[in-house]
Amino acid sequence: MGFKALCLGLFCALCASYIYITIPGNIEEYWKVIALFTVAKTCTFMDMCFENLGIMKHGDLISMIFSLDYTQPLSDENVTVTDTIFVDTPVRLYLPKRKSEIRRPAVIYIHGGGFCFGSFRQKAYDSLNRWTANKLNAVVVGLDYRLAPQHHFPAQFEDSFTAVKFFLQDKILRKYGVDPTRICVSGDSSGGNLAAAVTQQVQIDLEIKHKIKLQALIYPVLQIIDSCLPSHQENEHGIILTKDLGIKLVSSYITTDETVTQAMRRNQHMPLESRHLFKFVNWSTLLPKKYRKNHVYTEPVLGRHNYSLPALMDIRASPLLANDSQLQNLPSTYILTCQYDCVRDDGLMYVTRLQNVGVQVTHDHIENGFHGALLFMVSPPYLRLGLRIRDMYISWLDKNL
Ligand SMILES: *[C@@H]1O[C@H](CO)[C@@H](O)[C@H](O)[C@H]1NC(C)=O
Ligand SMILES: *[C@@H]1O[C@H](CO)[C@@H](O)[C@H](O)[C@H]1NC(C)=O
Ligand SMILES: *[C@@H]1O[C@H](CO)[C@@H](O)[C@H](O)[C@H]1NC(C)=O
Ligand SMILES: *[C@@H]1O[C@H](CO)[C@@H](O)[C@H](O)[C@H]1NC(C)=O
Repeated sequence: MGFKALCLGLFCALCASYIYITIPGNIEEYWKVIALFTVAKTCTFMDMCFENLGIMKHGDLISMIFSLDYTQPLSDENVTVTDTIFVDTPVRLYLPKRKSEIRRPAVIYIHGGGFCFGSFRQKAYDSLNRWTANKLNAVVVGLDYRLAPQHHFPAQFEDSFTAVKFFLQDKILRKYGVDPTRICVSGDSSGGNLAAAVTQQVQIDLEIKHKIKLQALIYPVLQIIDSCLPSHQENEHGIILTKDLGIKLVSSYITTDETVTQAMRRNQHMPLESRHLFKFVNWSTLLPKKYRKNHVYTEPVLGRHNYSLPALMDIRASPLLANDSQLQNLPSTYILTCQYDCVRDDGLMYVTRLQNVGVQVTHDHIENGFHGALLFMVSPPYLRLGLRIRDMYISWLDKNL
């Protein structure tokens, strides 16, 4: 019975994915992307089936699939790779073997995965971090953090912040031969959220002597208070990240209460006393006209549910909620956005807000890009878009670090 239901479920998932194919015509390597899209949809669907059949918990199947992709710390001719622990946070270190007269720059990379999945052990991140160490002759630290739904906000933030703070100590930087004036914090997607939040806190933490020189945010998630931005509407059925999936992941970051997920889908999750925060994410003023198109701004519905969830109003969960004087402290920033991305407007609004307070921002926008593509830069599928994102990011680092 279970098996038949599973087969039927699989069959329906495949049909549904073909019916709902909304892949824009200008996407490169169209058939590869369709294959990825179908696999992603099928996995999410099977995960749901397994949950309904009581075989596994929600997300377990996807975590299992992710872990099949994990790599061991393998050194090569150029880079020594080791796994270790910073305080309680597992990290993978990439130390260039090349002799260097001067201390090296460093990059701390925080992986994506919707706060629920992923690790620096994934093939794509291992390859990116190794590449960074090699190309820039830099010390690279890939860091992991506790994941939802077992762990909620602020665990993910705390783990990342604690590891970064540990690394920034004099004795640790000296141990790895790192130049304290040349350190970048980077991340993609939810890792971009953590990188942005960590950078904000490092810059104001009086206990931290060495500050961050650069931050690089690749299609970052930067706020959880408005789920009705133009990019949410245009990419509701996005290629890897649908609006539903995005909201499910973000809500499991902050709570186990399923009703929050539903309220977020209707954009009715914020309390009355959050009204003053909406000016920080008001896309009708912060989004360039090109992206606003004909969308009409509607005020969010506040106070429909009075969730007592401090995370909803916390800048460590939504770095876009920092006020202008907090943003002024931020280092030179790289932001990469993709057109076909539910969270595109988070990145675009952060570009505007940072530029408004005089922070130096380099912004790359990929017209035919989609969320999560970096994960597919390794084989298979060896997606050109993923490699392009890597190269844009590395070339900025190379010029600025
Ligand atoms: C080591 O570095 C050289 C020179 O940059 C490069 O050609 C080679 O591919 C690198 N090896 C690995 C395993 O990345
Ligand atoms: C957002 O901006 C529009 C003007 O473009 C303004 O009418 C509206 O009141 C603003 N809303 C908030 C919550 O800041
Ligand atoms: C939420 O709180 C506000 C003011 O404290 C109140 O007016 C509103 O009725 C409350 N909503 C619910 C659903 O309890
Ligand atoms: C910005 O936020 C900080 C921290 O909450 C606060 O101390 C400061 O007064 C705020 N500045 C402005 C201009 O609102």
